[in-house]
Amino acid sequence: MNSINTENHMFVLHFENRLDVTKLLSRSILIKFAISLSVEAQSYEQLFHELKNKPEVIENYDVPDESFALRFFAIGRKKKLDSIERIKMFLEAVQFNHAPICLISPVNEFYLVEEYDHPTDENPRKIFFGKLWGEGRSELKTKYNLRERCYIGNTTMDPELSFIQVGFPMHLCSLIEHLKANLAMVQPGNLVFDPFVGTGGLILPAAEFGGYVMGTEINYQTARAKGRSSRQGDKLLSIVIADSSKHAIWSSNAKFDVIVADPPYGVREKARKTVKNKKSDANEDYIQYQQKEDYDLEAAFCDLLNLAAMTLVMNGRVSFWYPVILEKYCSENLPTHPAMELLSNCEQPLTRKTSRRLLSYRKVREPIANEECEIRKTGVSHYRDCLFSSNKKENC
Ligand SMILES: C[S@@+](CC[C@H](N)C(=O)[O-])C[C@H]1O[C@@H](n2cnc3c(N)ncnc32)[C@H](O)[C@@H]1O
Repeated sequence: MNSINTENHMFVLHFENRLDVTKLLSRSILIKFAISLSVEAQSYEQLFHELKNKPEVIENYDVPDESFALRFFAIGRKKKLDSIERIKMFLEAVQFNHAPICLISPVNEFYLVEEYDHPTDENPRKIFFGKLWGEGRSELKTKYNLRERCYIGNTTMDPELSFIQVGFPMHLCSLIEHLKANLAMVQPGNLVFDPFVGTGGLILPAAEFGGYVMGTEINYQTARAKGRSSRQGDKLLSIVIADSSKHAIWSSNAKFDVIVADPPYGVREKARKTVKNKKSDANEDYIQYQQKEDYDLEAAFCDLLNLAAMTLVMNGRVSFWYPVILEKYCSENLPTHPAMELLSNCEQPLTRKTSRRLLSYRKVREPIANEECEIRKTGVSHYRDCLFSSNKKENC
């Protein structure tokens, strides 16, 4: 059984087939690399002893027409180690007699990894040796770096987090349960919708993974810059300037494969909803002229889950960030809907008193008339007060 200790940097996992590893790597922004593990040891003495007992680990690849490279990594240690020394020491003990060395494009690439418990430890906790299977997608962080984008806002989602949300469940506690199921699980050709689209930080990774993306945004100024930073090929369908709480804008035929959202919790951006103008106004059809009022946060999350139950295809997913006041948090207090099953709940700590949770649900059936999201009064609506006040204990 696979188990994960989140204190460690290296995880030893069992996969039924290699395709699962390839899929995992193709979607993971946080995984550096995966190796097929040959030996795991507590010291070099033990490592060399075990490799001696398993000569096939080297012999299978020690052939003249297959070049090789050995790479060394020390993980969790502050002071740099001399990698060349380590590699020399390894190759003296474990000899390749036939395979030529090639550092640029070797046929076989081996990894020697030392994992340290504490940055100042002299000796590693574990040493791993194995053949490289592939690398993760850390390059996506650079590709979608906020500094390189021509248009961002003060709540534009960080690319690392948005790729975790849309890509793979890299909060490691949920890795195993969701190995065959990404958080939002965007597949090529999916229709992906963000009801609080802002500058499009969340639909970008969805487009990168082949989804056709669209969103609603209440703020005319934000929405006017549609697609300027968020266009990924020809995948952006539309940004509708609209209030996402008004579900009547969707026809009963509207079906999304995936909904992703980072609703405003009132810290840098307020949740707003439109109200009918008291006086009739010639411009009232234009959302920028419509009167708006505060949108209670608990109501906003209920509306989001109701929208998901109504507009998602069967088995479609909704994944959104949910702010939490730690003192009041317990999983029973999370929003529920009879037609939606909670699949994963990953925490991102924010302050001493607050965190936010990335919640992902799957639609399990069509909602029956009058079925609605339920949410217990957990103080989420006071999230902002709690974050900024040290004394207003009554709200936290
Ligand atoms: C936290 S930001 C989302 C940021 C976005 N993920 C990005 O990367 O830019 C929330 C957005 O929701 C918008 N918003 C607030 N209330 C709304 C509503 N009722 N309908 C649609 N958008 C709304 C805000 O204007 C803001 O742009």
